[in-house]
Amino acid sequence: MSVIENSKLTVVGAGSVGASVAYAALIRGSARHIALYDIATAKVEAEVLDLAHGTQFTGASDITGGSDISVVEGSHIVVVTAGAKQNPGQTRIELAGVNARIIASMMPQLLEVAPHATYVLVTNPCDVLTVLAAEASGLPHNRIFSSGTVLDTSRLRWKLAQRAGVSTSSVHAYIVGEHGDTEFPLWSTATIGTVPILEWETAEHPRMTVDELDAIAIDVRDAAYKVIQGKGATNYAIGLSSARIVEAVLNDEHAVMPVSTVLTDYHGIDGIALSVPSIVSASGAVPIAQTPYSERELGLLERSATALGDVVESLRG
Ligand code: LAC
Repeated sequence: MSVIENSKLTVVGAGSVGASVAYAALIRGSARHIALYDIATAKVEAEVLDLAHGTQFTGASDITGGSDISVVEGSHIVVVTAGAKQNPGQTRIELAGVNARIIASMMPQLLEVAPHATYVLVTNPCDVLTVLAAEASGLPHNRIFSSGTVLDTSRLRWKLAQRAGVSTSSVHAYIVGEHGDTEFPLWSTATIGTVPILEWETAEHPRMTVDELDAIAIDVRDAAYKVIQGKGATNYAIGLSSARIVEAVLNDEHAVMPVSTVLTDYHGIDGIALSVPSIVSASGAVPIAQTPYSERELGLLERSATALGDVVESLRG
């Protein structure tokens, strides 16, 4: 349970992602109080009931919610999942227009009832929406950020752990950049334990080749498309990723996570939200300036920034 007495998480949006964030937070005990808010009254009330019915089997967290904005009052952290979701084959960027309008209308209402909360955007395209929400809210960049490539990094670590025959927690590798098609892995600093990724081998697990790593990176980049094609949406892993971010904030963990914040003079990048390794604590998210990058990785970071900058400019009209 969090270091904040009576910590409160509100999840905005009771769709499959929002309900999964609330479910993951309930099971993990991410916050003492968990609220679910959505304008769709019947849906949000049903989700809250269904979650509440299982609280005999969870920890000390309680779950409430509804369609009145007062539900959000007193939140220490707000996770925003509301908005249109990707259809099979659709890119996250294609959601930018409709979801920018939803976020623009929602942020002032949320800030009115929870002005001191930390805001975590999950709605896609989360990097683009983080820039717009930060501008609209006037919040400092550390207090409004997105889940970014935390999920992609988890996907990468799972794939590498399977290939290398180790625990996922022993894989130290990050996906950075856009939470989307221009994301990329930081291979130059990736290790398994203390062994550089390309040197790892055991009797049962031969060394990985650069081509293998490139194939793994493509699988990770395209993972959401595959899941959406099969089941219509992704929800469990983003739910767990978001609950983990909530815990790092509420527990003031100072955990290193690749969340997406609006960067300022970060290797020449300004005003664009991208995922880079950041310190996540009760103060929110702060990019780690001394993260090492190879020349190739700096070029890929710039490519991500340019792609996202173009989308933000197109939305500004
Ligand atoms: C995914 C969504 C959350 O990557 O963008 O599954």
